[in-house]
Amino acid sequence: MNLKIIKTDDGSDTLYNKKLDETYHSLHGSVTESKHVYINAGLSSVIDENSKKSISILEVGLGTGLNLLLTLKFAKKNNLKIHYHAIEPFPLDNSILKKLDFNNKLEGFDKKIYEKIHHPKNLKPVKLSENISFTKSITRLEQISFEKEKYDLVFFDAFAPSKQPDIWSKENFKLIKDAMKTSGVIVTYSSSGKLKKILNELKFEIEILQGPKGKKEMTRATK
Ligand SMILES: C[S@@+](CC[C@H](N)C(=O)[O-])C[C@H]1O[C@@H](n2cnc3c(N)ncnc32)[C@H](O)[C@@H]1O
Repeated sequence: MNLKIIKTDDGSDTLYNKKLDETYHSLHGSVTESKHVYINAGLSSVIDENSKKSISILEVGLGTGLNLLLTLKFAKKNNLKIHYHAIEPFPLDNSILKKLDFNNKLEGFDKKIYEKIHHPKNLKPVKLSENISFTKSITRLEQISFEKEKYDLVFFDAFAPSKQPDIWSKENFKLIKDAMKTSGVIVTYSSSGKLKKILNELKFEIEILQGPKGKKEMTRATK
């Protein structure tokens, strides 16, 4: 099998893709990384900046759904209404999702939510909780036609630029920029020179922030 479950340093699981020789999360802690990059530097900062209570999020690379599960938790605690649109061209098999089972390992989730997130036929908007409606696109980022100025926040969680260089292209970030609202924010664990150059050329305001454990830096950029 191409995918293997491995435990990261904070005790939470991630997946290892043998073909790419790449993991879905940091080996220093998958939950630690997701919380640091996407929840604390992303979602939390957007709420604090704008006192927003209703937010539209785009995730590039749904993968295991960990970022979405953590977003569900945050939304409930902070009484937010979120529409979450995730893109994933290679949905995971049920067999591996069952073994991974973040839904049981992270506290406070209804089992059915994890099934709803990953159900292969759930392509229409589905209500995951009082706080979150969810839409999934089983396609590549490059093939999507987005509505203009729709998203307040983007989680860019593709495989690393060294493993999947094509997805970190200027065309893709232009596509995303057009789909973001003015003052919308994009967060990602990467802080590569190429990414900074692209964001700069697209006139984003760039912040290089402290990275999660084991990583010096991460990027937050505002339209
Ligand atoms: C680093 S992993 C995602 C981690 C995920 N957010 C999680 O918490 O499990 C990268 C994901 O991007 C997906 N991906 C690969 N090519 C893509 C593309 N062209 N457009 C969107 N997603 C892509 C992969 O299948 C993989 O699930």
